[in-house]
Amino acid sequence: QNEQTPQEHTLDNSLALLKDGYDFIFKRRREMDTDIFQTRLLGQKAICIGGKEAAELFYDTTKFKRSGAIPKRIQKSLFGVDAIQTLDGDAHRHRKMLFMSLMSRERLDVFMQLLAEEWEAAAGRWERLEELELFGESQELLYRAACRWAGVPVEEETARQRADDMGDMVEAFGAVGPRHAAGRRARRRIEDWLEGYILDLRAGEFKVPEDTAAYAMAFHRDLQDRELDARMAAIELINIVRPIVAIGRYVVFGAIALHEHPAYRAKLAADESKYRQWFVQETRRYYPFTPFLGASVIHDFTWQGHEFEEGTMVLLDIYGTTHDPKLWDEPDAFKPERFEHWGGSPFDLIPQGGGDHRGGHRCAGEWLTIDAMAVSLEYLANRLEYEVPAQDLGLSLSRMPALPESRFVMRSVRRKQ
Ligand code: HEM
Repeated sequence: QNEQTPQEHTLDNSLALLKDGYDFIFKRRREMDTDIFQTRLLGQKAICIGGKEAAELFYDTTKFKRSGAIPKRIQKSLFGVDAIQTLDGDAHRHRKMLFMSLMSRERLDVFMQLLAEEWEAAAGRWERLEELELFGESQELLYRAACRWAGVPVEEETARQRADDMGDMVEAFGAVGPRHAAGRRARRRIEDWLEGYILDLRAGEFKVPEDTAAYAMAFHRDLQDRELDARMAAIELINIVRPIVAIGRYVVFGAIALHEHPAYRAKLAADESKYRQWFVQETRRYYPFTPFLGASVIHDFTWQGHEFEEGTMVLLDIYGTTHDPKLWDEPDAFKPERFEHWGGSPFDLIPQGGGDHRGGHRCAGEWLTIDAMAVSLEYLANRLEYEVPAQDLGLSLSRMPALPESRFVMRSVRRKQ
């Protein structure tokens, strides 16, 4: 079987995955000159695919499902057990509608207003500091904006700890050992807290507007017209707040890009909207965040002469697809202008998944992310002055999720008058 699919002759590649990180699939695709190969991971056969046609295949929901495809260790740290990421078919569509209903233009505009307020407030705090780390600070300001938007109370005493907990769930995904364990503990703390909050909302002890995520999760009814289990409602509420906090990573990547390509400051100031949009898209394409996604084959089928057997784990190369020389000219150069001629395909710029937002698993928060990055970039490029002291801003592809060692230290932050 699968005679034509290039294979790695190895007992298990789980360790190589940790070592190669974001480059695990892409490196093998280059070495074997292929967009598909077979290997073994976590004790089972896995087919790795990459590129635009592979992305199109991966998002065919008649061929792939997510249930049983996401390892428990990822669910217990990053996503939450049995949450939207693991659903298929009607159950998934129904749950996805709930998420997408929170992403109307009006509600996104409300978020951007809150985010701008939090940037102002944070800038005020930062002016009193000699030095700060942008990663933790931006996660905190995003946390404050996310909670206000989602109808979750922000307590001054706990805001930083909660923001760090949200961040730690993301930090856990590509880690083994202490960093992974910290993410699981953070998830338990936050789930306990928000499960209590959901129960309080249901008991009428707190009131939140109906268009907030907290209300939506607390009172959503599933296809059987039942409320979500309170734990599950908390998990899905976290699936709103945690990824908003995670935009802090893209804020840091944008800051690095600005620092390393200072010529864009003037371009961003002069021709705001177009350059800002291109800059944001290039930041999402260029910098590593999601390495790959997994799904499982529903029924046997053949694709481009390769056989896919029922139950096989298939990994789509996200990082490699956004760096694929067949899709991107000079993929390893940071060039926002490339987006002037980008065709807008749902299957090549896939840092937050591909295909359709409503019909498939593509990220529910992609538009929110893009707009939030634009708001943040406006602060970093135009509204703030700061020094960037010498530090190690290098990104290692073997550290998943990627983060510079220094977490972007800024000095002498001032608001421009
Ligand atoms: C799904 C990336 C921000 C909510 C996803 C997926 C990726 C992703 C790769 C999986 C797509 C798939 O399984 O096919 C990112 C990145 C973000 C980000 C890199 C930047 C920080 C957000 C934000 C929100 C959000 C801000 C919400 C406000 C979700 C949800 C899903 C999802 C609910 C599950 C969708 C589903 O299973 O149908 N995201 N995301 N994400 N994202 Fe995001």
